[in-house]
Amino acid sequence: MELPYAEPYKIKVVEPLYRSTREQREQWIAEAGYNLFNLRSDQVFVDLLTDSGTGAMSHHQWSEIMLGDESYAGSLSYYKMKDVINTLFGMPYFVPTHQGRAAENVLFSALIKEGDVVPGNSHFDTTKGHIEFRRANAIDCTIDEASDTTLYHPFKGNIDLQKLEDVFKTYPKEQIPLCIITVTCNTSGGQPVSMQNIREVSELCKKYDIPVFFDAARFAENAYFIRIREEGYAGKDIREIVKEMYSHVDGATMSSKKDAIVNIGGFLACRDKEVFEKIRMYCILYEGYLTYGGLAGRDLAAVAQGLMDGTEFDYLEARIAQVAYLGNKLKEHGIPCQEPFGGHAIFVDAKKFLPNVPKEEYQAQTLAIELYLEGGVRGVEIGTLLADRDPKTRENRYPALELLRLAIPRRVYTNNHMDYVAACLGNIYQKRDQITKGYRIVNEVPIMRHFTVELEKA
Ligand code: F0G
Repeated sequence: MELPYAEPYKIKVVEPLYRSTREQREQWIAEAGYNLFNLRSDQVFVDLLTDSGTGAMSHHQWSEIMLGDESYAGSLSYYKMKDVINTLFGMPYFVPTHQGRAAENVLFSALIKEGDVVPGNSHFDTTKGHIEFRRANAIDCTIDEASDTTLYHPFKGNIDLQKLEDVFKTYPKEQIPLCIITVTCNTSGGQPVSMQNIREVSELCKKYDIPVFFDAARFAENAYFIRIREEGYAGKDIREIVKEMYSHVDGATMSSKKDAIVNIGGFLACRDKEVFEKIRMYCILYEGYLTYGGLAGRDLAAVAQGLMDGTEFDYLEARIAQVAYLGNKLKEHGIPCQEPFGGHAIFVDAKKFLPNVPKEEYQAQTLAIELYLEGGVRGVEIGTLLADRDPKTRENRYPALELLRLAIPRRVYTNNHMDYVAACLGNIYQKRDQITKGYRIVNEVPIMRHFTVELEKA
């Protein structure tokens, strides 16, 4: 008999989860203004809000926490991180930051000015927020295949080279401070970018003399997909693939809360001394001195170890297998999801799931609320609420994809939890025809409204 798959780790510490009744959840979600961010964590049973900062660290990482050097300047933990960043990415310069968006803030403060455009593949909301806050524009150049959830394409995070070149031809070079490749592309469903696409984007950027940066939050999951899906990479060491990916870019912002499997942290790495000299002032201004950047020494040490843990093939295989496990369970219930399944989450197609809810009443948010009510499972809307309003017209932007994201924390839940989540969604799918009403906004802010928006029943 062929032996079944089993995770390459065991559990040392456990944390209780809290069950609740539907009546309790009805009251809590109403008190939360129908915004799942406003729930207390003990009002949630299975929390798939995000895979960011929610992972379980390894015992190697916990031992690094004890070894953390808390010196204000010249911390040895900083040098540990510097070594790992240089070894893995071939980037000699870096500044630590307290998380990914802080790295964006530091980089964009140095590079972006009002009126600029920043092309990329479906920029993440904080990236777009930081660009728009500077009165610049994020231009989405993702391939069209990404917006068809049923179409198979192995690299739905890819950038359309024609769309990118059109941007380069439309705007003068002085107005395009950088191009951003998000690996994996969170907004389009945790979808990877192929090595070929990374190389071609990089060549095109070189031709027009535009710097190219990774938004590297899930770089290791991207490398895993290159290994299993792209010709020529089968069996190749993940770290070799990572090194090759980074050889094509000038730098990277990183949220260490994802693929470095820590609870807090980020950094900004670059190849060029000139770029480093431009960014370091902003690091000191916004984050802290260059050798700690808003983090404790122990956090830096845990990131350094986490980058090594997170680029182990066996770990990545277990991680991505669990995501696919949930995806396949949902498929058994006939639930429409973005396919192929992405790296960190399953994205349920809310437009197809709840066609009777008008798009003006936020289909994906409605589904997220239904899922919470059904079983205390918290997912997150990646749809119209997240897309914010157009900065000029102030009209809602309706994105091509209206998704409910079920993001899976790293090494935290078992497949029994995945079965539970799938059963909850399966029950809702059975009664989907009866769900015809969504929600309307009663209170919102102009940028990144989804975090604080308050809603009422439509
Ligand atoms: N880039 C990507 C692709 C992300 O997914 C995130 C965060 C960031 C940048 C910002 O990093 O949170 O450390 O400041 N994504 C989280 C999520 C919040 O739930 O997907 P951060």
